[in-house]
Amino acid sequence: MTQTHSWWQTGVIYQIYPRSYLDSNGDGVGDLPGITSKLDYLRWLGVDAIWLSPIYPSPMADFGYDISNYTGVHSLFGTLQDLDTLLQQAHQRDLKFILDFVPNHTSDEHPWFQEARSSRTNEKRDWYIWRDPAPGGGPPNNWTSLFGGTAWQFDEQTGQYYLHLFDVKQPDLNWRNPHVRQAMYDVLRFWLDRGVDGFRVDVLWLLIKDDRFRDNPLNPEWKLGDDPGKYQEGRYTQDQPGIHEIVREMRMLLDSYGERVLIGEIYLPIERLVQYYGVTLDGAHLPFNFQFVIMPTWDARAIRRTVDAYEAALPQGAWPNWVLGNHDNQRIATKVGREQARLAHMLLLTLCGTPTCYYGDEIGMQNIQIPREQLQDPKVKESPELSRDYELTPMQWNASANAGFAAPDVKPWLPVADDYQTYNVETEQHDPRSMLMLVHSLLERRRASPALTIGSYRPIDQENDACFVYLRQHNEQRYLVALNVSAQDQVVKLPGLGHGSLVLSTQMDREGPLDLSEFHLRGNEGCLIEL
Ligand code: GLC
Repeated sequence: MTQTHSWWQTGVIYQIYPRSYLDSNGDGVGDLPGITSKLDYLRWLGVDAIWLSPIYPSPMADFGYDISNYTGVHSLFGTLQDLDTLLQQAHQRDLKFILDFVPNHTSDEHPWFQEARSSRTNEKRDWYIWRDPAPGGGPPNNWTSLFGGTAWQFDEQTGQYYLHLFDVKQPDLNWRNPHVRQAMYDVLRFWLDRGVDGFRVDVLWLLIKDDRFRDNPLNPEWKLGDDPGKYQEGRYTQDQPGIHEIVREMRMLLDSYGERVLIGEIYLPIERLVQYYGVTLDGAHLPFNFQFVIMPTWDARAIRRTVDAYEAALPQGAWPNWVLGNHDNQRIATKVGREQARLAHMLLLTLCGTPTCYYGDEIGMQNIQIPREQLQDPKVKESPELSRDYELTPMQWNASANAGFAAPDVKPWLPVADDYQTYNVETEQHDPRSMLMLVHSLLERRRASPALTIGSYRPIDQENDACFVYLRQHNEQRYLVALNVSAQDQVVKLPGLGHGSLVLSTQMDREGPLDLSEFHLRGNEGCLIEL
């Protein structure tokens, strides 16, 4: 759009969960050729970059976040050749291509770990985090896994424990070891050399652990049934001194390839999150902003507070970003309902900074009920209500059997939502008021409007607490966004702003001049108004 902004600033990112996008070979699992066949859809939708959750060889103890070879492709998803084709076809359509990079841990089946566990003197022993049992026996300290239980696994053969902040099959790498860093940076180079446009770095804030292995304080509010990841505070296992040096190293490496993007998965309070931009903006380009994902209440005041707090905390020159959902969290249409989800998308796509959309949210997909015996998530095996399977179900392409995700006679790896005949791409493309057409229109408007992509943000004070109103402006172009975050009709009064032109309602049924001194918003309605 402008010479001064990068593609990752003006563009919109779309997350694809490869297992669930499109099965092209009849095994019930989505794959790379399946994604390639949907690039025209993504171009039509109007996103600019796709980020793929892991596609590497993996025993699949954590759906591919347990990697046994960083420079290959799992046969479930296809071949390296398929990946090259997807990359090339994406680029041909002007779509950027972002891979998931998982540096905190490997699979226990990775050859590095196989070597490391073979003996205490093996040269790769120190690539992982090994400790002697505590005096008197048992795990070396009280650290617990984010998936529940102790984070230490005893290795009979060598008599020591190894650390795993996630599943027992995901041993943590020792990022204090320079050889580990070099090996992982070689992985980045391997993909950058193939033309990849950037990385989403998995659990970036966890890479360094306390070098004295001090016990973590327990979270006094945690109760049985809560997320095991919240059982203790991560005082000594997250956001440790030394982490920013690593982020800088990754960034320098990416910068040496030109305009590539470094995105960090980071769940931290805003003040600590924004430090990941780096002191001189030499850290991550986009430390993922999960404020909307973790917000306990969804109302106008809470949303405004969140947006303003985040905007205020951003270092000078840092580029904001927003996320509504991902593969680890409840879908937005379940969290706030389908009608509010439309409004949430208007918010996502009209705030300052880079939005990331989660596959299927554009058609209003919801978390579905899955019988316990069909659940596959290794996380929280004992607490099915915390499983992540519910937000990973197959993409709904059309009203045919299996929603067009897989051939009709194939059993998809997770069940397809019951309501797929109503909520699917094809049906919604033919309904001018569907959620899909709303997202499409928002993306189209955004792309054509500098005020929405690179403009300033200013919240507007007004009397109605159920509504959130803000202004986006670039030069002469001004948009007002008025969001009714309630199910009831509301009146908004903005005397002094004169008249505007309503260009898009989330209900897709009205346009035209609007007297801003007093106007109505229907329940769950959001309006984009040009001034
Ligand atoms: C990240 C991923 C999650 C995975 C975990 C361990 O949080 O998003 O899916 O289980 O890291 O790699």
